[in-house]
Order: sequence, then C-alpha cells, then structure tokens
Amino acid sequence: MPSNLLVQPPADGVRLITLHRPQALNALSTELLAELATELDAAERDEHTRAVIITGSRKAFAAGADVNEMAERDLVGILNDPRVSHWQRIAAFSKPLIAAVNGYALGGGCELVMCADIVIAGSDARFGQPEINLGIIPGAGGTQRLLRAVGKPLAMQMVLSGEAIDARHALQAGLVSEVTEPELTVERALQVARAIAAKAPLAVRLAKEALLKAQDTDLATGLRFERHAFTLLAGTADRNEGIRAFQEKRPARFLGQ
Ligand code: CAA
Repeated sequence: MPSNLLVQPPADGVRLITLHRPQALNALSTELLAELATELDAAERDEHTRAVIITGSRKAFAAGADVNEMAERDLVGILNDPRVSHWQRIAAFSKPLIAAVNGYALGGGCELVMCADIVIAGSDARFGQPEINLGIIPGAGGTQRLLRAVGKPLAMQMVLSGEAIDARHALQAGLVSEVTEPELTVERALQVARAIAAKAPLAVRLAKEALLKAQDTDLATGLRFERHAFTLLAGTADRNEGIRAFQEKRPARFLGQ
C-alpha cells in the first residue's frame, strides 16, 4: 500500500491517483516518486485502466523535490540517485495521463505536470521552476520540456528568475490545455478521461505515440510514423466497429481488438 498516494481503483476505465503528503505540500520525496512509478506500472499492465489522472490538493499539486531530502544528498548520492529511474518510468507511461492541477506546481511538481499528456488547471494553479533560488537547476526535464512547451523566452524567464506563472498565463503559453474553476478541476479531468477511456484503445495508444513523435523527431519521420500507425489501425476490429456504428447511427462498442 502506498503511503504518499491515494489511489482509486479504476471506474469507467479511469484510475485517479492523488498525491498525499500534506505536511510537505506534496513535495516529491524519493518514496513518493517510487510509489507513483509503481502505480503507473500497475496501471500500464491493467487492461481495465484506459486513462490515469494525477492530482494533488487544493493548496499544492506538488511543491517540487523534497528540499530536506536533497540537503542530505552529496555528489555521490546524486550520481546514484534512484529518482532518475523513477522519473524515467513515469515519463514512459504509454496510456493517456492527465494532470489535474490546483495550487503550487513548482520544480519537480511542474516537471511532473509536463510528463502528463493533458493538463487541466484550476484558476488558482501556479507553475514555476524555482530551483535557481536554491543554487541549482531543474533536474527532471524542466529545462528541456518547458522550452518545448512554452518556447524560449518564457522558459528562460521562468528558469533563470525562478518566477512562477499563473494558470491563465500557462494556458496562453501552451503549458496547460484548459483552465477551470478550482473546485471543478478533478471533475473536468474525470470527464475528459472518461471520454478517452470510451474510445478504441489501440487508436488512443497510437494517437498518443504519434503526437509525441511530433515533439521528438523531424517532420518526415513523424509523418512516416503516422502513416504506419494509420495503416495498422485499418486492420483492427475496432475500426470496422467505429465505422459501422457511425453508419448505423449508434454508439460504438470498442473492444481493443
Ligand atoms: N520540500 C520539502 N518541504 C516542503 C517543500 C519542499 N519542496 N515545499 C514546502 N515544504 C514544507 C515546508 O517546509 C513547510 O513545512 P513545515 O510546516 O514543517 O515548516 C510546509 O511544507 C508548508 O510550506 P510553507 O510553510 O513554506 O507554505 P507557504 O504557503 O508559506 O509557501 C511555497 C508555499 C511557496 C510552495 C513554499 O513552501 C516553497 O517555496 N516551497 C519550496 C518550493 C521549491 O523550491 N521547489 C523546488 C524544489 S527543487 C526541485 O524540484 C528539483 C527538481 O527539479 C527535481
């Protein structure tokens, strides 16, 4: 049983994971990260889980790496940091991952947001990479993913000054997909996740992979991948079902085949 997470079993194909370290504003301790990576591995293997939501509390999604834990780590400890592999497992999750964010998403918290595919933010959310205030830089993708998400000038401003931005600014910059009233953040994320969970699983999986290719490869490689994936899906039962359901004016029943 994880001690830093609240995990709801999948309902309607959606698993909800709540970061729960209220005494430290959900600071991402090594233990919490390990638990999160393990939960995502379990969700990856579970055929009933079609989408996952990660959320925090109203005050904080996550206030970054655990600074007190960082204080105890020397250079050798950093070179052998187990958190690196936890982060890699989190970033490699292949099913749709939605972050529902209220309050602070700082440092590692903002980096966790950027591992998600879709980000629903309450209007009270604040995103930042304050590591520079500690004499360090982001260490879990914050320089690389932030620049890709918001472009160079804003990424530079956030990382070099440590200043956070609010939810509206994050929306305008492309860091989040939608802003809601703070009390509706999780509900809206559930709505989106349930809609995704009802789609054809193979198509969802390949759509995510194809979209991520657009970030990581050149256009020609990405277009080739898209064409292969599109062709592959032509052989699935769910494609036949989707088209037949449209013609028969009824909801499709997708089986993941
Ligand atoms: N690590 C450990 N504990 C933390 C924490 C963190 N990142 N953030 C908050 N806490 C703890 C505080 O120490 C405090 O504990 P006590 O009550 O025992 O003193 C408790 O959570 C509540 O926090 P505050 O009293 O500070 O709450 P606030 O409302 O006054 O301020 C805040 C909120 C602005 C988020 C402030 O807590 C803060 O600046 N936190 C640190 C943010 C930060 O620097 N994050 C980056 C970490 S480095 C990193 O993430 C590296 C990476 O890339 C992986």
